[in-house]
Amino acid sequence: MQGVMVVDIVSVGVVGGGLMGAGIAEVCARAGLDVIVREVTDAAAQVARQRVAGSLDRAVGRGKLAAGDAEATLGRIRFTTAFEDLTDVGLAIEAVAEDEAVKLEVFAQLDAALARPDALLASNTSSIPIMKLAMATGRPEQVVGIHFFNPVPVLPLVEMVTSLVTRPEVVADAEAFVVGVLGKTVIRSSDRAGFVVNALLVPYLLSAVRMLESGFATAADIDQGMVLGCAHPMGPLRLADLIGLDTVTAIAQSMYQEFREPLYSPPPLLMRMVSAGLLGRKSGRGFHAYA
Ligand code: 3HC
Repeated sequence: MQGVMVVDIVSVGVVGGGLMGAGIAEVCARAGLDVIVREVTDAAAQVARQRVAGSLDRAVGRGKLAAGDAEATLGRIRFTTAFEDLTDVGLAIEAVAEDEAVKLEVFAQLDAALARPDALLASNTSSIPIMKLAMATGRPEQVVGIHFFNPVPVLPLVEMVTSLVTRPEVVADAEAFVVGVLGKTVIRSSDRAGFVVNALLVPYLLSAVRMLESGFATAADIDQGMVLGCAHPMGPLRLADLIGLDTVTAIAQSMYQEFREPLYSPPPLLMRMVSAGLLGRKSGRGFHAYA
């Protein structure tokens, strides 16, 4: 069975064109696949398109991509508001906001829309149980977690997450696709909130917020400490800004709900910043300001 389905994945559906969805669409299109991105409104679809175009421009500017290839890549991505446009895809990847109710609704709609019985249904969630999302469909054994890292075109890792009922062939095919077609590196994780990376990363990011909140050190010094002292590419507060403070909060809340560990509980400062719309890089201001 392994590899059979991979051959059949010539088009991929991506639900959600935010930071992660746009990045996933880009890497799939750069691998030569036809991609259909579903957004809620025409305006959101337009923003998603601009996101992909901006990232492709950056790749060209950095010498990672020829200008002609960037244009061809964008040409392989179609933006829509209709789930029905995803009918024939071999793989659909959900990348909407980290909100369980929204994701459950998306999985029910994908289940109704996808015509191929062999289609893979994947979620890019970082913290919501794959099992719950799978049970929103009539084919839970076809559902798998394929978790990318931001920025998706740059970071090589994907976490492959299986639920209690995911068919082993589905995992093998999903992994063969992610490695063989997208060129990413896979680590496998059980279906626990946070999986491998966020289980380690989120307590670290929240500790940095608590350190700032307590007046222990400035945001600039906390970040500089980890960049210059531990050779991280960016400090924890700048990284939280990159991920999006709403997303960090949502992941922390899911992890806290699952484990009831205080170290996963989002600190008040983080929650107040989200209430204020200070979401990090995407809103222009978080722990740092962005032009
Ligand atoms: N396409 C392809 N390549 C690109 C690109 C693009 N759109 N944009 C940048 N690159 C390449 C550059 O060419 C460069 O490659 P090189 O080193 O071979 O020359 C490399 O990416 C770095 O790019 P830049 O020089 O432009 O930028 P920086 O050196 O400032 O790095 C960064 C920016 C990649 C964001 C880096 O700071 C970084 O890796 N930060 C950490 C990010 C991180 O930890 N992400 C994980 C978040 S957790 C997550 O996503 C999970 C979720 O569930 C929360």
